Amino acid sequence: MRIDVVSIFPEYLAPLELSLVGKARRTGLLDLRVHDLRDWAHDRHRTVDDSPLGGGAGMVMRPDVWGEALDDVLGGAQAHPGEVELVVPTPSGLPLDQRTAERLATVPHVVVACGRYEGIDARVAEHYRGRGVAVTELSLGDYVLNGGEVAALVLVEAVARLLPGMVGNPASLVEESHGAAGTLEYPVYTRPPEWRGHEVPEVLLSGHHARIERWRRDQALERTARRRPDLIERLAVEDLDRRDRDI
Ligand code: ADE
Repeated sequence: MRIDVVSIFPEYLAPLELSLVGKARRTGLLDLRVHDLRDWAHDRHRTVDDSPLGGGAGMVMRPDVWGEALDDVLGGAQAHPGEVELVVPTPSGLPLDQRTAERLATVPHVVVACGRYEGIDARVAEHYRGRGVAVTELSLGDYVLNGGEVAALVLVEAVARLLPGMVGNPASLVEESHGAAGTLEYPVYTRPPEWRGHEVPEVLLSGHHARIERWRRDQALERTARRRPDLIERLAVEDLDRRDRDI
């Protein structure tokens, strides 16, 4: 998979050289390229923004600079709808969730356009949609960051770990929070069985796999009901069993 990130702060993306994402880049599983938007600016100050038309606070990123950058980075891919997706992180986007990460992990080429200030001139998204490029505006959550770079870090990590061959044991992707079960993950423990007076739940030391599985399922449901009742409402009836209703 190829991911391009365009930003006025390419240094912000340095952590993408570390850990699993860094390894995926080195092994060739992930072709990740980071670009400085100012490379496409023309004036001496390498200006990328201007004041908002209609008035108001802050600055807006210029469509001409973004257009030249994205024409280059999207490249010939624009001729192949379905092969490329333009992702624009913005607090006014659709919420990023695990399903979106799973879908993006199947797109051969993702370009992330990181806005700053008050955002990117709205005609940029409109223009590429008109040219048949899938454009998705995504929000990390209901709060405002200074720009899209942190969202790009989050997005790349969430997507890259789903690429086949990335995570050692693919079963861990199924059991984790927001995995196939649709619940938050159950609490986890390791040795020692007693630490500072806190005991590991006895069932986990029982060696009784069916009981352990049931206990984990109950814990996941209880935790989800307490912390994220909205997720409980979305659980599919066919994914529940009678014992789920007994807790
Ligand atoms: N840029 C600024 N705030 C953001 C948010 N909440 N999500 C994604 N991108 C952003």
